[in-house]
Amino acid sequence: MSEFPVAQVSSCFEQVADDLAVKGWSVQAKVFSPSLIAALAQACRHMWQNDALTPAAIGHGSDLAVVPEIRGDYTRWLDDCSPRACQDEYVQILEALRETLNRSLYLGLDSFETHFALYPPGSGYSKHLDRFKNNPLRMVSVVAYLNQSWQPGDGGELRLHLKEGVVDVAPTAGTLVVFMSDSILHEVLQAHKERASLVGWFRRRPLNPLLR
Ligand code: OGA
Ligand code: MN
Repeated sequence: MSEFPVAQVSSCFEQVADDLAVKGWSVQAKVFSPSLIAALAQACRHMWQNDALTPAAIGHGSDLAVVPEIRGDYTRWLDDCSPRACQDEYVQILEALRETLNRSLYLGLDSFETHFALYPPGSGYSKHLDRFKNNPLRMVSVVAYLNQSWQPGDGGELRLHLKEGVVDVAPTAGTLVVFMSDSILHEVLQAHKERASLVGWFRRRPLNPLLR
């Protein structure tokens, strides 16, 4: 498991639950060990260099389209990646967060889906919500960044659009961002160098099981 003390990680998760209840978003820097982030970054880089990531599409059904001016990342679902210990460890940590959120906020989160994402230089993702008509089960969005030497000026910030104004989060290695999928509008500003992350969603159980 994580090299970080369990008590430290669980207090971060309690803070995430409080933040989600009060303001709908949370940023944490002390959940993942540097060695876990380095291993995940390496897995992502390896897939990128081997053409194993595919251009992300937007839309739904027959409207599904790759539109790099709107969304420029390349992705691969974790379920579809070769198994690696670091991926299992990541999912285990997120499972503990899911349990904390269910216990504290009664969100009824019952599953987690996540993909690696790589934005090549010059790409971003325009302002959007993660829960939309085609993703009705997404409740909570989770992003973990894998960029070791991110500098101010490298771009690629996650910009949250809030009532009080905007908040920009730098995609530096180990930063975890959690926000409500249905209410927090957000975008990825243009990155000036390769920007890697794991993006995922906690989902609730469908009322109609055929929806899954
Ligand atoms: C997304 C997204 C944010 C980020 O993939 O839906 O908003 O910071 N990603 O990578
Ligand atoms: Mn999003």
